Amino acid sequence: MTTEFPSKAAATARVLGSSGWHLWEYDEVTSTNLIAATLEPWHAVRADTQTAGRGRFQRQWVSDPGGLWLSAVVPVETNSTAWRLLPLVAGLAVCEVLRDLGVPNLRLRWPNDVLSDNRKISGLLIDQFRAGRAVVGIGVNVANHPEVRDGKLNGAVTRLADFVATPPSLSDLAEQILIALKATWKTALDGDAAQLLPRINALWNLPRRVEVDLDGPILRGDFRGVDAAGRLLLCDDSNRFHQLEPQEVRLLRDTD
Ligand code: BTN
Repeated sequence: MTTEFPSKAAATARVLGSSGWHLWEYDEVTSTNLIAATLEPWHAVRADTQTAGRGRFQRQWVSDPGGLWLSAVVPVETNSTAWRLLPLVAGLAVCEVLRDLGVPNLRLRWPNDVLSDNRKISGLLIDQFRAGRAVVGIGVNVANHPEVRDGKLNGAVTRLADFVATPPSLSDLAEQILIALKATWKTALDGDAAQLLPRINALWNLPRRVEVDLDGPILRGDFRGVDAAGRLLLCDDSNRFHQLEPQEVRLLRDTD
């Protein structure tokens, strides 16, 4: 994957207080994940719009003005179990910031969508471009209306402005999310992921009946959350307990 040069380069990165984050802000880029690809850990990129925003499964991500399009570079050892935790820990950080701003009924949809009730407010895309670091791409609908550009999103999305009369500026929201992400990720890197589990598992709306697509075979049963190694826990309809590696699971669907 090549790195595109942004249409208007930010002159300098803003240092975010004592958090250690450096935030590069642009008017427009292709994809903030691609711009962040060459940066050092604890640097982040935010753009007002993306011309080629990327979603999971190679989907296009509508990145209209008014939304938060942010990519954060974090350290992670290649092939470590921490990789499996990163989507969960990043989802937790986003949820907790949105909750504190007043978004109701937040939940995670495995592996890393953030919903308010059943509508998507945020999506995450994690890339590895270089050994030893990951790019955590975070899209949050704030005051934008992606359903105007993509009619299929009608009724499926919501935004911060639906709940909060005066949302923070996009720069401030980026800062809040980056600070929360650093706190949760450092806990995981320090080997204390178990400490985060109750907060993560409170976000799945458990107990839930689900169907797990293992890229062919389907398992049906009760979703029991995730463990400290980032594995998905399922008790199937024959009462067998499964600890599934995230990469085995293509899709997890609610069946209630
Ligand atoms: C998904 O739900 O499919 C993941 C969406 C991730 C979108 C964000 S916006 C910031 C970053 N840059 C991208 O191109 N994608 C992610």
